[in-house]
Amino acid sequence: MSIAKKEYKRITTKSLVEMKRNGEKIAMLTAYDYTMAKIVDHAGIDIILVGDSASNVMAGHETTLPITLDQMIYHASSVIRAIERCLVVVDLPFGSYQGNSRNALESAIRIMKESGAHSIKLEGGEEIAESISRILSAGIPVMGHLGLTPQSIYKFGTYTVRAKEDIEAEKLKKDAKLLEKLGCFGLVLEKVPAKLAQEIAESISIPVIGIGAGSGVDGQVLVIHDMLGMTHEFNPRFLRRYLDLYSEMDGAFKNYINDVKSGDFPSNEEQY
Ligand code: KIV
Repeated sequence: MSIAKKEYKRITTKSLVEMKRNGEKIAMLTAYDYTMAKIVDHAGIDIILVGDSASNVMAGHETTLPITLDQMIYHASSVIRAIERCLVVVDLPFGSYQGNSRNALESAIRIMKESGAHSIKLEGGEEIAESISRILSAGIPVMGHLGLTPQSIYKFGTYTVRAKEDIEAEKLKKDAKLLEKLGCFGLVLEKVPAKLAQEIAESISIPVIGIGAGSGVDGQVLVIHDMLGMTHEFNPRFLRRYLDLYSEMDGAFKNYINDVKSGDFPSNEEQY
């Protein structure tokens, strides 16, 4: 189905707020390298998130905690070289902003300066308000991330749905309002009940991008390896797979191996 929407030559933080105002949903995907980012950008995505999920899907770590600021800058600069239209948001990795607001600003500046990214994202609400304000005051656009915040996985203990209890739901609502008040241009809401997510999206003017947060928010984000079906051991309810690339690639690799071993590749036409 094609959807009538305003054509944007370049997506900016302003376009996103306008999209929310006009009721146009925002489509966001992760990407971590040049080739993938080029395809995603040409397809018309609104936002590429250079997520710290690179720690999982690119580097094979169990959590997002080990990825470093230098590694995030490497991924972000590869993505930036590929894109023409979308807005690029880069995660501040664990340990690069929790210490103090000066440390947070230095990390954000390194990302902007060394990768050419357009904005940064960081996890948390009230506890990191000072860091958010300091980064914003340097003119760097900030996206928040609330709900399930994977950098705090050892505090939560599990990746289950957050804010099912009233106390956590109330804090979440307060934090979302605070992020809006501080000047964030949007926020990611991860794995929270759909009704709560909708209530939050309706209560603030900045776009709320959900992952496992239902359909009542202003946009959706997925990890690209998951939606392409390259990973198949990860099966949360919120994940829609648009391809089964794992099987497609497995078949292609097997065919190649057979062709090489049988001498079928290269053929006469495939050599000089
Ligand atoms: O790092 C990431 O991919 C993310 C998304 C899950 C929102 O933060």
